[in-house]
Amino acid sequence: MTVNSRIPQFYKLSPAERLKTVLETCGIKDEDLTRIGRTDAEMLSIADHMIENVVATLPVPLGIAANFTVNGRDYLVPMATEEPSVVAAASNMAGVARLKGGFTTSSSQPIMIAQVQVVDVQDPFGARLRLFERRQDLLDLANAQDAFLVKVGGGAKDIQVRIVDAGARTFVVLHLIVDVRDAMGANAVNTMAEALAPLVAEITGGRVRLRILSNKADMRLARVRATYDRDALGGADVVDGILDAYAFAAADPYRAATHNKGIMNGVTAVVLATGNDTRAVEAGAHSHAAAGGRYTSLSHYEKDADGNLVGTMEMPMAVGLVGGATKTHPVAQAAVKLLGVTSASELAEIIVAVGLAQNTGALRALAAEGIQKGHMSLHARNIAVTAGAKGDEIEAVTARLKAGGKVRLDTALEILAELRG
Ligand code: MEV
Repeated sequence: MTVNSRIPQFYKLSPAERLKTVLETCGIKDEDLTRIGRTDAEMLSIADHMIENVVATLPVPLGIAANFTVNGRDYLVPMATEEPSVVAAASNMAGVARLKGGFTTSSSQPIMIAQVQVVDVQDPFGARLRLFERRQDLLDLANAQDAFLVKVGGGAKDIQVRIVDAGARTFVVLHLIVDVRDAMGANAVNTMAEALAPLVAEITGGRVRLRILSNKADMRLARVRATYDRDALGGADVVDGILDAYAFAAADPYRAATHNKGIMNGVTAVVLATGNDTRAVEAGAHSHAAAGGRYTSLSHYEKDADGNLVGTMEMPMAVGLVGGATKTHPVAQAAVKLLGVTSASELAEIIVAVGLAQNTGALRALAAEGIQKGHMSLHARNIAVTAGAKGDEIEAVTARLKAGGKVRLDTALEILAELRG
C-alpha cells in the first residue's frame, strides 16, 4: 500500500486520533502495532505538550545503579537505558571504587557559550577590538534579558571575539560567556544572543547570521577521580590489561570511539533519566574528545605506587535542574528527587562519576574475561523474551540458552517449543 504522508490538520488531532489516522493511512490492522496506543492517559497528555504530533510514548527501562559514593556521600543513581548490563556494570565498578573511598569530583562554574556569527565585515580585526571596547554595553544588554538569572548570581560575565577563517571568507564570531547556574542554559543564552544581534551588527558594520549556543561546552566541565583496588579488580594483570586498553583508545580514534561510547552508556542513561538533553551532552563529549585536533579517549588511567588503578575524566556536562523535561516529565522529576541533588553541578559530577565507572567496568571486562560473557548472559534474557517466553518461561529459557552456549533466537524458539510440550 502506498502511504500519503500529507495529512491535513494532523497536528490538531488528539494523540488517539493521530494514532488511528496513522494506522489507517499505513493500512495497519496488526494487534502488535495498535498496542503502542496503550499509554497511560496522564503521561500521554504530558507527552502531547512536550513535542508535536504525539501518538504514544516509548517506555525505556529505568534502573537504579547502586554502590555510588561521590565526595563521601552515597547516591542511588537512576539510569534510563535499553542496553543490558549497563546498570549492572556501573553498580559493580562503583562497588570496587567504594573500597577506596568512591569517586571524588569537582566542576567549573556552570558557564555556557553563545555564539553570534557576523558576516561581511570590512575590517574583522578592527571590528573585533570595537566589540571588546563595548564589552560592558554588550553584557548589560544581555543581562537585561534575564533579571532572574542575574538575581541568583548568574548572567553574562564576559565576551570573547574570534576571527574564523572559512575558506575565502572571514567571520567575526562573538562569544557571550554566560553563567547559567542551575539551568541547562540553552534558552537563557539563546535569548541573550538574539538580543545582542542589532548592537553587534552596528559595532562591527557587518550582518549578523547565527545566534545560538555552542554545544562545545568546554567552560562547563565536570571532573572525576577514583582509585580502584588492584585485587578487587582481579589482580595486577587485569590492571595492566586496562592500562593497555586505555593506551589503545588514547592512540587510536577507532578504538577511542568505542571506549567513549562505553563512557556515554553511563552518562547518557543518567542524562536521560533526569530529563536532560542527551544530544547536547553527547555533542559536548565528542567535541571535547577531539579538542586536541585528534579524536581520543575522554578518560585517563594510570597506576598508583601500590599498583591500584587510578581513573580520571574531565568532560563538558551541560545539564540542568530547572526547565525543560526535568520539570515537565514526572519520571524525570522523580529521578532527580530520588538522586537528591540540589544543584546542576552536583548532578553533572554524579554523571561523570557514572561515566567513569561505566568505562572502567567495560575495560575490566574486556581486559579480563572479555565482554561477551557478561553481555551474552544478559542478552540471553532478551532473546528469551524476543522468542515469546512469558512468566517463569523467561528464566527457564534464559538458563538453558546460557548452559547451551548458543544464545540465538532459533535456539530460544526450540527450547520454548520443547518447554511448552
Ligand atoms: C558496549 O555498549 C560498550 C563497550 O563496547 C565499550 C568498550 O568497548 O569500551 C563494551
